[in-house]
Amino acid sequence: MQVLSASSELYPLIKTGGLADVTGALPKALASYGVETRNILPAYPGLLDSLTGTRHEADIVLLGEAAQIYSGRYDGLEIILVECPSLFHREGGPYLDPDGYDHPDNWKRFAAFSMAVAHIAEEGLSGWRPDVVHLHDWQAGLAAAYLKGHGSSVPVVLSIHNLAFQGQFSPDIFPYLEVRPGFFSTDALEYYGGVSFLKAGIVFADAITTVSPTYAREILTDELGMGLQGALSTRRDRLKGIVNGIDMDVWDPTKDTYIPANFDAHSIERRAVNRAKIEERFGLMEDPGPIMSVVSRLTWQKGVDMLKPVIPGIVDRGAKLIVYGQGDPSLIHPLSEESWRYPGRVVVHIGYREQDAHLLHAGSDIIVQPSRFEPCGLTQLYALRYGAIPIVARTGGLAETIIDANEAAMAARVATGFQFQPGSVEDLYHAIDRALTGFQQPLFWRRLQTQAMKADFSWTRSAAQYAELFSGLTTQPDMGLQRASG
Ligand code: ADP
Ligand code: GLC
Repeated sequence: MQVLSASSELYPLIKTGGLADVTGALPKALASYGVETRNILPAYPGLLDSLTGTRHEADIVLLGEAAQIYSGRYDGLEIILVECPSLFHREGGPYLDPDGYDHPDNWKRFAAFSMAVAHIAEEGLSGWRPDVVHLHDWQAGLAAAYLKGHGSSVPVVLSIHNLAFQGQFSPDIFPYLEVRPGFFSTDALEYYGGVSFLKAGIVFADAITTVSPTYAREILTDELGMGLQGALSTRRDRLKGIVNGIDMDVWDPTKDTYIPANFDAHSIERRAVNRAKIEERFGLMEDPGPIMSVVSRLTWQKGVDMLKPVIPGIVDRGAKLIVYGQGDPSLIHPLSEESWRYPGRVVVHIGYREQDAHLLHAGSDIIVQPSRFEPCGLTQLYALRYGAIPIVARTGGLAETIIDANEAAMAARVATGFQFQPGSVEDLYHAIDRALTGFQQPLFWRRLQTQAMKADFSWTRSAAQYAELFSGLTTQPDMGLQRASG
């Protein structure tokens, strides 16, 4: 089985969040089920030079822009790059300019990328042809419209990692997309008078997945459907939730090279070395007070604004807080004010480096994730593996991957963290209070850490579900009939 996986991010080549972690890890897990993946992404600055075995495959024109297709390898992954300097050689990140604003032609950049995906799906590359095309998020969504518009029979799977990002643009761009003119309709790309690339994927994909079964249910509701609940409900028979896993090689506390002390469930005490490193690196007071960390995009989705009101309580209880990440300045500023008020006890660090994220999971006592909604969430899964206890909002993937440390779950030895009601500052503080009380009881805490570290969120089971989905789509539709009549 050959799969063409199309995404705007892929770890370790280019990453702004969990999408990259998933697209980088899933191909390796799928390989053991006989699924070979080629990963196509835009050639952002520097990417082409990082490949090995680079090969020029084709010259094409994408929405009037000259482009080349290259193939090669990176870190064990098969990569296809869409080289189009006029669209992808930009300062800033994949979506934002250096000042944090969307690149104004994002519609064209990702329409062109999607067009390249459709082209390769149909024409193949040097004799290679995909059996299935796997599109991730809105940036690849339009490929479904290009393929189905051309009457292509290659099965298309769309994976939704976050329904909040829909690729919505003005109707004025429609004539320039080079999709079928009839697709500007409410049963195709039209969305409240504009155009939505994600909706193109929802309408035209043969199967739709999202990154946890809970989120698959939530996106059908008015509350979390973000305006697309109608389109999704129409296709609910094609919608499936498959929970994300983690890359067990990249996130492995026993051999992680980013952290000063490696450890496992039998040597949890070695985390103290990592903890001391965090205190030194982030300028925290060196005392036994528990370290609580938020490692996240600092946005409304992540509930970052809910932290300010709980900070005085955290500090009063002798705990310390690190808020680490990048995001919305209007949410970050109020937290920075708290860090000035409580020097050495509250630290706000703007920026992101992979090694810091590893260290924070390896040495923090608690990881806080107060998300308002969370399709899956990976941070809490990394926290589990590294023995940092997650405090999470009971929503989406967080609700189903973390088991609350209530009495029954502790007695059954399955508890792994603390949950609270999403959006409730009061309940967040209650969960923090429960965690800090638990931290004072070394036996309780050690048991919770051991249980967390034993929870299995490797990709094995979820990759099997993707493999089954792919093979179901490639089975000839008339096979069943033949069997029935034979
Ligand atoms: P999301 O994808 O919504 O941000 P996840 O929990 O699925 O949330 O994935 C977060 C991943 O992104 C983790 O690997 C985390 O360490 C990383 N991350 C967090 N903030 C940033 C950032 N500013 N830039 C790049 N990666 C980040
Ligand atoms: C998105 C979601 C996050 C999910 C990630 C990977 O960024 O916000 O919950 O874990 O994609 O699927």
